[in-house]
Amino acid sequence: MDNQHDVKIVTHMQNDYSVIIENVTFGYDEDRPILKNVSLKIRQGSIVAIMGGSGCGKTTLLRLISGQIKPQTGSVTVLNHNISSMPNRDILHLRKRMGMLFQFGALFTDMSVYENVAFSLKEHTNLPECLIKKIVAMKLNAVGLFGTENMMPQELSGGMARRIALARSMALDPELMMYDEPFTGLDPISLNVSAMLINKLSNALNQTSILVTHDIESSFKIVDYIYFMADGAITSQGTPEQIRNTDNLAVRQFVDGEINGPFRFDYPAKLDYSKYLEGYYK
Ligand SMILES: Nc1ncnc2c1ncn2[C@@H]1O[C@H](COP(=O)(O)OP(=O)(O)O)[C@@H](O)[C@H]1O
Ligand SMILES: [Mg+2]
Repeated sequence: MDNQHDVKIVTHMQNDYSVIIENVTFGYDEDRPILKNVSLKIRQGSIVAIMGGSGCGKTTLLRLISGQIKPQTGSVTVLNHNISSMPNRDILHLRKRMGMLFQFGALFTDMSVYENVAFSLKEHTNLPECLIKKIVAMKLNAVGLFGTENMMPQELSGGMARRIALARSMALDPELMMYDEPFTGLDPISLNVSAMLINKLSNALNQTSILVTHDIESSFKIVDYIYFMADGAITSQGTPEQIRNTDNLAVRQFVDGEINGPFRFDYPAKLDYSKYLEGYYK
């Protein structure tokens, strides 16, 4: 009886988290560690941001979670599978349950919007074309671009292309979505639209989402939890509220710099045109 009870508790605890990383060390070269004793947990259904300076290991962390690379020490558990010890064939199978959207998540330029979004459905399922058409239409509707099936990528604005790429990465209804700097290069309006879209889709599908981003303003509106990284280690973590009020100087600089500073990491500063013109006409 007691044993059964224990098993139940363990199962329940595992299902609470989509990603559990424990004491992971990783380096592309043996002698240069990139991730240093990283531990983190991402709750099922939550939206979590990974933040930190360029080159600190954020993309490497996503590669570990998607099983493209394996840790040298420690363990990576994704959707209840310990992928540190999993054969590559099984990882490929598991990866169908994950979606990824990368910074310049480029569309296939010689394919229509329809073919782009249908791509993984055709690759990974035996669904008949008539059903694929319906799914593509649903996905396009979800990103607010219903009816764009026959357009070619060159005919789309940057923001539209990003939303099509989002629809494409969602085609197989992934349980875990990873976004690597999805806002980079977007103007502030597209950026907020994208953030809200990620939030909406994540909630509608009860997805778990991991968001690598520099954009504090947009991401803090939608994320449940933030991990800050520096030089391959997690240096700070908390809810948006906790991070806004943190005493950690490095994090403070990051947060204050983003909100009040003159520079943006990834997209042009929102100019206050009235002030700008005042100076101009003096
Ligand atoms: N394929 C690779 N081979 C060797 N070194 C790499 C590779 N990818 C990234 N790195 C190095 O690992 C470090 C972390 O990179 P990355 O995870 O891309 O950082 P971030 O996404 O935080 O900017 C950097 O020093 C980078 O040069
Ligand atoms: Mg990166």
